[in-house]
Amino acid sequence: MASNESSPETPNDVASFFSPEVAACPHATYRQMVDDHPVVRMQVTNAPVISRYEDVMFCLRHPEIFSSEMAEQMALGTDRPMIPQQIDPPAQTRYRKILDPRFSRKRMLEIEPAVRASAGELLDAFVDKGECDFSQQYAVPLPCQAFLHLLGLPINDLPELIRLKDGIIRPQILAKNALDTDEVNTIRANCGKEIYGYFETLIKERKQAPRDDLMSYLLDVELDGDKLSQNDILDISYLFILAGLDTVTATLSCSIAYLAANPNQREEIVRNPKGIDAAIEELLRWETPVAGVPRLVKADVEIAGTQIKQGEMVLLLLGAANIDPSEFEASDEVNFDRSRNRHIAFGGGPHRCLGSHLARMELRVGLEEWHRRVPNYRIPDGEVLAYTPGIRDIRYLPLVWD
Ligand code: HEM
Repeated sequence: MASNESSPETPNDVASFFSPEVAACPHATYRQMVDDHPVVRMQVTNAPVISRYEDVMFCLRHPEIFSSEMAEQMALGTDRPMIPQQIDPPAQTRYRKILDPRFSRKRMLEIEPAVRASAGELLDAFVDKGECDFSQQYAVPLPCQAFLHLLGLPINDLPELIRLKDGIIRPQILAKNALDTDEVNTIRANCGKEIYGYFETLIKERKQAPRDDLMSYLLDVELDGDKLSQNDILDISYLFILAGLDTVTATLSCSIAYLAANPNQREEIVRNPKGIDAAIEELLRWETPVAGVPRLVKADVEIAGTQIKQGEMVLLLLGAANIDPSEFEASDEVNFDRSRNRHIAFGGGPHRCLGSHLARMELRVGLEEWHRRVPNYRIPDGEVLAYTPGIRDIRYLPLVWD
């Protein structure tokens, strides 16, 4: 474990894991939770945080107790629940049936050449300079451009869509005063309205002139004999903007930051490009960029000896579960040759990530092309990386190379 990780002493210290400091180096905190406090209540909200692999999996697989229907409690600027993330089976399963085929492994391999070409163009722009901000010049544009292409949205809209996505996921960074709750809530609500407006316009355009893209598919597809309603399409599209424009960026940045700080493993990737898939899985496990997912408890339940009441919100700490030694051998070591890696960085149960094949392809192409052109990179001396909590991202990631 990295030596700069602080080890929390009490359950309250443990519950401060949402701080930027812990987001940067969460493993000591995770490990103490798994070992000593498998269910701990968060400061301020008092919400239980569940950290052991077995318990987290149980919750993920039992949506009838641990529900995702919490649009009111987790109002992300929305008027209605986001589909399929904020609805439970069996309704959620019906939507997944029409969405899953559009995100299949095979389909994602078809768009791989375009993503590779895009990676090459991005690298051409700065590779001779010997330095870049990896986050803004590579990790943001690469997956976001691919995702917009898939949705059928113009690339020129990317800065606007990123502003709206940030306004929902991290309104604090757009606020003049990040501690002003009213200002933060207003930013989120306004961005939500703009997202609905953006997609209402797009739906109108695609109705008049259908194309070969996801929006036209959503307008055309039938669910048990009926077309999707306008609100259904808005509620799916809203989630896509949040889910598709943040997570792969965050994963690319966390992965490169890890490799820059661990030259032996960076060299391993350069030496053995065939091992890239296993390396990506291990980096997903270790970094777990989506650190946790919330659920609303539908019935009184006991987890790891702690009573949890109906109506409570819980956090399932995927990052901690991913270093639970009862599931992962030598769980505190990053090992690209790990023989069994059933990590849950993409979640588990019915809500397991819809975009995992897309994400894996983008990560593979992104890291392959990067290491082919920039094999030997490092973080400049004196730079300290700032990680965001929640979804662990690094918004400024300076790198230099010879
Ligand atoms: C490495 C990148 C990614 C990570 C780590 C990630 C992680 C996750 C996790 C943990 C969940 C489960 C949420 C829950 O249980 O409440 C999830 C769900 C989801 N993800 Fe991803 N995701 C990634 C990329 C993507 C991409 C590129 C898309 C674009 C389509 C996407 C779309 C979704 C959707 C729509 C859901 C909701 C699925 C449902 O509720 O049925 N994700 N993701």
